[in-house]
Amino acid sequence: MTGPQIDIMTPEYEADPNPILDDIRENHPIYFHEGLDSWVLSRHDDILEALRTPAFTTNNYAWQLEPVHGKNILQLEGKEHRSMRAIVTPTLRGDQLRENFESVAVNNAKELIDVWRHDGKVELVSQFTLRLPLSVIIDVLGLDPEDKPKFHVWYNAIHDYFTNTAGDPEVEAAGLRTHDELRDFMMPLIQERKKNPGDDLISKIVHAEIDGERMSDIDIKSYISFLLVAGSESTDLQMSNMWLRLLENPDQLQAVREDRSLVRTAFAEALRHTPAVLMIMREASQDVEFHGTKIPAGSTVTLLLAAANRDPRQFAAPETFNIFRDDLETDKEFTAAANHMTFALGRHFCIGTYLAAMEAEIATNLLLDAMEDIEFADGNPPQQVGSFVRAPRNMPLTFTPTS
Ligand code: HEM
Repeated sequence: MTGPQIDIMTPEYEADPNPILDDIRENHPIYFHEGLDSWVLSRHDDILEALRTPAFTTNNYAWQLEPVHGKNILQLEGKEHRSMRAIVTPTLRGDQLRENFESVAVNNAKELIDVWRHDGKVELVSQFTLRLPLSVIIDVLGLDPEDKPKFHVWYNAIHDYFTNTAGDPEVEAAGLRTHDELRDFMMPLIQERKKNPGDDLISKIVHAEIDGERMSDIDIKSYISFLLVAGSESTDLQMSNMWLRLLENPDQLQAVREDRSLVRTAFAEALRHTPAVLMIMREASQDVEFHGTKIPAGSTVTLLLAAANRDPRQFAAPETFNIFRDDLETDKEFTAAANHMTFALGRHFCIGTYLAAMEAEIATNLLLDAMEDIEFADGNPPQQVGSFVRAPRNMPLTFTPTS
């Protein structure tokens, strides 16, 4: 099957991906993308199948993530993978989630808001959304708050590395340097937590046993390095995307302000309508056929999650951001039965969905408490940036302080 006239990874796609994703999903449900050296799938049913079939592996992360994080959970399969998930998952659910994260998230959010709450203006991304999830995960891992600036530098370098579609060599070198810098920072810390465990997540990972054995120090380091980024980047971009859509739809923002149980619903609809993660990849371990076209074993496959999230076969009026839509079931959207694809599905389904939802809920409530009459500072919504992951780089707002 031929590819679209205007493809992904072009300036047109960067400017506004949705018309291009719509064309691909409706008219080119499978095709080969030369630039990415990858097959492309985009329909909801196809992506569901791709994420569930054992024929598609996550070997692609060996070149996508390993150079920065080392070998990490996304690359594992089978028993080893299930054990790795089992070490951290209980911390991210139910009572343990609240105990470990709630007060940390509230305190960090209040601290950030207090800096600008009386100013009547804020740049929401750099002064809030970019900072909160990383600060929370740093606290939960039990890292020294004094080191926060260092982590922000590493985090930005890693973010730029993964979004470096222009192939800037300096950006690439800075991203790769974080691998060694994080290793040099983490290894002594891991030794220290072995000797003197605390209540923090690093101590839990260090002392966890898989089939009676502890993880190696280098595996622990890779897991923590990945958690730092996975636990913060997507959440911060997704919060920005939700605020973008709510501010564009003042009636829905007002509804959320008046009924705070809708905060989580708004976050769920933003995950579908304006996902932070537009696409992920897989590698075919054997020949697989979609729409009569063979994807040969060894090929890379790009899954356009953002296209699936707007598949009209799955969602009514998919292009409309509507927190009141009938096909949105808030609680389900944070589970492996979710209708949207933004947390992926199947074996590697995101383990941080409840943490992301809790952070977004706490943050949004506190932001609404602090600000009234919120508007885009120059009257226009900011441009979203990015081809793999996407959100506004900045969002200057004006508001009336509440006290
Ligand atoms: C809105 C926020 C988030 C989004 C959109 C998101 C998205 C995703 C996606 C798409 C995957 C699957 C990747 C794949 O299958 O190739 C994933 C996996 C993962 N996420 Fe998240 N994530 C978010 C928040 C978090 C948080 C807060 C954590 C933190 C602790 C986290 C930890 C992980 C981990 C450890 C995996 C790997 C799971 C595995 O391999 O079994 N994520 N996430």
